[in-house]
Amino acid sequence: MTTIAIVGAGPGLGAAVARRFGAEGFAVALVSRNQERLDQLAADLQADGVTARGYAADVRDPESLVGALGRASEELGTIEVLEYSPIPQREFLRPVLETTVDDLTAAVEFSVLGPVTAVQQVLPGMRSLGRGTVLFVNGGSGARPNPAVGGTSVAFAGESAYAGMLHDVLAPQGIHVGQLIIPGAIQAGDPTNDPTALARTLWNMHTTQGDFRVFSRPLDA
Ligand SMILES: NC(=O)c1ccc[n+]([C@@H]2O[C@H](COP(=O)([O-])OP(=O)(O)OC[C@H]3O[C@@H](n4cnc5c(N)ncnc54)[C@H](OP(=O)(O)O)[C@@H]3O)[C@@H](O)[C@H]2O)c1
Repeated sequence: MTTIAIVGAGPGLGAAVARRFGAEGFAVALVSRNQERLDQLAADLQADGVTARGYAADVRDPESLVGALGRASEELGTIEVLEYSPIPQREFLRPVLETTVDDLTAAVEFSVLGPVTAVQQVLPGMRSLGRGTVLFVNGGSGARPNPAVGGTSVAFAGESAYAGMLHDVLAPQGIHVGQLIIPGAIQAGDPTNDPTALARTLWNMHTTQGDFRVFSRPLDA
């Protein structure tokens, strides 16, 4: 069985992506900080016939993230798809003039060091499979810095640069790297930003291996 690891697996987009990839035959490794919530989400998915397990880790604690992804690939199979989509903390969403060094340190740990840790952990497995997909998910400030949200604007810029470089160097190895930009809020029933619609977009990014960057809706809509 092939495996997707969803780093930042919560009730919104994470759950929708788990259902979508699970329906396509993927085993699903759910990663976020709270084991109890992960176990509940995994049980809900299992009730619908999806193989799913929760692995608690904090993306700002590299050791816990490496451990979670390592256990996931041992128990569920080599990770073919990595999605990196934890929901940013409130401190990363302050106006730029109120954003402190501590806020930025945390935001960079979250959006730059976390992705590097996760990618380095799963890449050897993807190489051994000869295929793989890495999907980054960001809000609109990942494409255009927004002074209302200083931390994510700075840290997402670093994440975007890292992801774009990965795209270029890994494409010849059969590993696709993509970034989904979601301007505005994720909301059930929204024509573009409904979790199920976004999960479909991420599935299409995985299967078509097209452009690096995909927008759920235009930035200025
Ligand atoms: N929600 C929006 O309106 C919106 C808008 C634009 C873009 N996005 C993007 O969409 C993705 C999130 O989707 P969603 O909002 O629907 O969230 P979700 O999939 O419902 O949940 C994301 C999960 O991330 C986990 N998380 C937060 N901090 C973490 C950490 N330090 N380490 C590990 N896990 C952590 C949280 O669980 P724990 O607290 O249990 O760890 C949370 O349940 C993110 O990439 C975000 O940038 C969201």
